[in-house]
Amino acid sequence: FPVPLIHISETNSTNNYLQSLCSKQKVEELTVVVADFQTSGRGQRGNSWESDSGKNLLFSTVIFPEFLEARRQFLISQIISLAIKEELETYTTDISIKWPNDIYWKEKKICGMLIENDLMGRNISQSIAGIGININQETFHSSAPNPVSLRQITGKEFDLFEILKNIMLRIQSYYNFLKKGNTESIACQYEMSLFRKKGMHRFKDANGEFLARIICVEPEGRLILEDEMLNKKGYMFKEVEYLLK
Ligand code: BTN
Repeated sequence: FPVPLIHISETNSTNNYLQSLCSKQKVEELTVVVADFQTSGRGQRGNSWESDSGKNLLFSTVIFPEFLEARRQFLISQIISLAIKEELETYTTDISIKWPNDIYWKEKKICGMLIENDLMGRNISQSIAGIGININQETFHSSAPNPVSLRQITGKEFDLFEILKNIMLRIQSYYNFLKKGNTESIACQYEMSLFRKKGMHRFKDANGEFLARIICVEPEGRLILEDEMLNKKGYMFKEVEYLLK
């Protein structure tokens, strides 16, 4: 395996497990904690993350990007999203990145991530990226958050560790690319991979529903939309939602 790997059968959350390991001992960058099952897998906005035991990839990895300013923390989300998107594209088409950090297949969610950063002054001392990818699960018990698995898409079963290995190689190479300062190229690749990049789509913000097109994603991660009246609006995470078909 290309990076240090800790495989556990059950934990409350691989993010919590890795967080507590990092607080107790020195952990090598890109160490992976992967679990067969999580008793309280955490999603964004306090949601839970559903996964049948042994069916899907549930893992967390850690980096210590001290060179990265906190205001550029969205780059971490961007490189991880790109790495996962590229790996999933080797098995199917129609994979895109739904801003800010979900991976979609068509109109459905195949992967979610929860990135938890620790700051030291203006920079990032530690970033734990928790990633859940639906691989072999055949049916989901809840229709939220609109889940789909690679098995449902392709009809085939996959080797979880083979996919994990490939993803870690891709994350490693994007991380090296980031360390070399290629931030514009990363942002550009991310933008090109966006879900609903073209055309007008329905969104919802605090004022209600509206039609808009995506203009760009700013370096801090802000999504810039332009509505039918050609008014531009910028949103941070949670301030705007996509309305799905
Ligand atoms: C989301 O889309 O809401 C984020 C889901 C993140 C789930 C992964 S599974 C592995 C890691 N451990 C957790 O508790 N959450 C993340």
